[in-house]
Amino acid sequence: MIAIRTENICKTYTGRLSRHETSAVRMLDLEVKEGEIFGFLGPNGAGKTTTIHMLLNLIRPTSGAAYLFDRPVAETEVRRRLGYLPESVNLHTYYRGRELLNFYAALCGVPVEKRARRVGDLLKLLNLEEAAEKRVAKYSKGMSQRIGFAQAMIHDPDLLILDEPTASLDPVGRKELHDVLLELKQRGKTVFISSHILSEIETVCDRVAILQNGELKRVGTLRELSADKRSRLMVKSFPAPVMEALSATAAEVTLAQGRITIRCPNEALRQTIEELLQRHGVEILHREIEAQSLEQIFFSSITPPPKL
Ligand SMILES: Nc1ncnc2c1ncn2[C@@H]1O[C@H](COP(=O)(O)OP(=O)(O)OP(=O)(O)O)[C@@H](O)[C@H]1O
Ligand SMILES: [Mg+2]
Repeated sequence: MIAIRTENICKTYTGRLSRHETSAVRMLDLEVKEGEIFGFLGPNGAGKTTTIHMLLNLIRPTSGAAYLFDRPVAETEVRRRLGYLPESVNLHTYYRGRELLNFYAALCGVPVEKRARRVGDLLKLLNLEEAAEKRVAKYSKGMSQRIGFAQAMIHDPDLLILDEPTASLDPVGRKELHDVLLELKQRGKTVFISSHILSEIETVCDRVAILQNGELKRVGTLRELSADKRSRLMVKSFPAPVMEALSATAAEVTLAQGRITIRCPNEALRQTIEELLQRHGVEILHREIEAQSLEQIFFSSITPPPKL
């Protein structure tokens, strides 16, 4: 089943007085499968939070439609299956940690007899046991984010939407959150996570989408997105027809120290060339494929901002 689907959603904000229009999201088509950890990336102002707010039905799209588990987002029932951690966690600070989670458990309809156990488990999972009896007003930023995360998971939702969940977490907290996300995935849950921290998305997400100026630039697994990666093939020699075929491609051929190096600018061409060499019985002595980090993919996908 598809956990999240958007069909050409657009959101245009219009200034009340100036009537100035901002296109925050433009014709966005997204599909997140059930059981996936999906990373939603984009620079500041890309439209990530606006998209999330449309998925939560907090704001309405100017046009297009959004669905959760194949039901329109406006349906109350489907939202029961959803947990949400907002960008800036804003909790009732008068409560103590445990009380706050009990309050949310009641609000989300967790049966009375299950509440204490559920709250205790979450406090333990998020390393908040020591802070459980402390007022939330006295929590550090990271602790607030952890309790916010516990709040999002209180009713054991099938889909978690996390808007920059690790912004205030220290490296230990980030690692713990990753472990929690992977555990949720193992239990068949779906996680939609927006983040700026590319390295963490890289380690935890099955697929990513890259958004800029409200437009979807790329979507796919890291393997699919690194299709532009460069490579080098080294061979001893090859017959003239191979040279002829190579000269018609974007590959660059150089000869040095008795070896021929073929530089391929992308994966598709490397595969074509390897097939060509194989057909002509040319042995590949050495193969070097550039590893592309998500950061490289990210920067090659977005238009750089104008220089100051
Ligand atoms: N309520 C609003 N009224 C007018 N414009 C808005 C409003 N909310 C967001 N915008 C504009 O929409 C665009 C997208 O903003 P959004 O908050 O969705 O970006 P984001 O990707 O979440 O950014 P960040 O990484 O900084 O959180 C921005 O140009 C922003 O100024
Ligand atoms: Mg945002």
